[in-house]
Amino acid sequence: NKVVLAYSGGLDTSVIVRWLRENYGCEVVCFTADVGQGEMELEGLEKKAKENGGSQLIVKDLKEEFVKDFIYPCLRAGAIYERKYLLGTSMARPCIAKAMVDVARQVGADAVAHGCTGKGNDQVRFELTFFALDPELKVVAPWREWDITGREDAIEFAKKHNIPVPVTKKSIYSRDRNLFHLSHEGDRLEDPANEPEEGMYMMTVNPVDAPNQPEYLDIGIAKGIPVSINGKELSPASLLSELNAIGGKHGIGRIDMVENRLVGMKSRGVYETPGGTIMCYAVRELESLTLDRETMQVKDTFALKYADLVYSGRWYDPLRESIDAFMEKITEKTTGSVRVKLYKGSVTVASRTSPYSLYREDISSFENGQIYNQGDAEGFIRLYGLPTRVRAMLEKGI
Ligand code: ARG
Ligand code: SIN
Repeated sequence: NKVVLAYSGGLDTSVIVRWLRENYGCEVVCFTADVGQGEMELEGLEKKAKENGGSQLIVKDLKEEFVKDFIYPCLRAGAIYERKYLLGTSMARPCIAKAMVDVARQVGADAVAHGCTGKGNDQVRFELTFFALDPELKVVAPWREWDITGREDAIEFAKKHNIPVPVTKKSIYSRDRNLFHLSHEGDRLEDPANEPEEGMYMMTVNPVDAPNQPEYLDIGIAKGIPVSINGKELSPASLLSELNAIGGKHGIGRIDMVENRLVGMKSRGVYETPGGTIMCYAVRELESLTLDRETMQVKDTFALKYADLVYSGRWYDPLRESIDAFMEKITEKTTGSVRVKLYKGSVTVASRTSPYSLYREDISSFENGQIYNQGDAEGFIRLYGLPTRVRAMLEKGI
């Protein structure tokens, strides 16, 4: 038997390779998904995987797929978890887990394994994806089985088994990076009363040190999805990296929050989402032209549920897919352009235009027009306000 392991090359997954071989006596195929976590993490990985006892390393570049099939649908839906979180880690997990299922088929493995702890959301996201795509795969989650309880234990296990411990001093924070965001959790962040230290940030500059001149960007949007920057059409992954670079330079997209994990506990996290913050802002701004009042309200209601499903690992749930079909339809006419202004950590709107704009200057103008007759308002208000009057009459005994 064979197991496919989600492998990063860090201490934890290195130890897991050896542990799987010892405890399950199986061949371990290491799998690394490139979702834009950065060159550093991918360098020298194959050598390391084999040294640790893996039979092979399979690396897949999932960057375009990650942005196009996972990030863009969430963006179009306006999915935000608990008022702040743009779901960077939550969207990546089903993307990686889906690729693992494919690899398991390709190499003929009957099991998959991951290095998530038993206290977090990630284990749920991986495993619900495995369940949905191949209910027969066996799932191994070493953190829930072994007696290694922390980093010191893991280092000891590594030394005992001659596993090279990564020389790079591991950061005190638990981080997860991909093309969309970088999350920081743990250590001094565990006390929500502590302000994050400035030196912690990696994708964004301190807004105080950002350029003193604002920068304008034209974001082209088609059907609720960004397609160009300053008139230049870009593939999903290139568009996002470009926005990350520009947004990061202006200190955009730092989020500090206390969130409710699916497993019941609260946790404090700090996220950097420079490009995602700009995109999200631009799409919403365009919707102010293309959606009417009730449509926008219904969309926002479903966005809440959508975010909850994504956060909770239910990407492949028919409910998430159905809401997605609704989102596709409702954003059919959200096409146009938004000019945003980036300045010291903030994104504001400078202008928006759309061929499908529902805004009509000839109606909305303070100058009197033909279509809107101010006299009509009198009757409208009388009927619209009828319940208000009836209630007041009752209270006053009229
Ligand atoms: N709390 C965030 C989430 O649940 C980020 C998790 C980060 N994951 C990690 N392995 N460090 O989506
Ligand atoms: C983990 O516990 O593996 C990371 C945090 C999370 O999944 O929420």
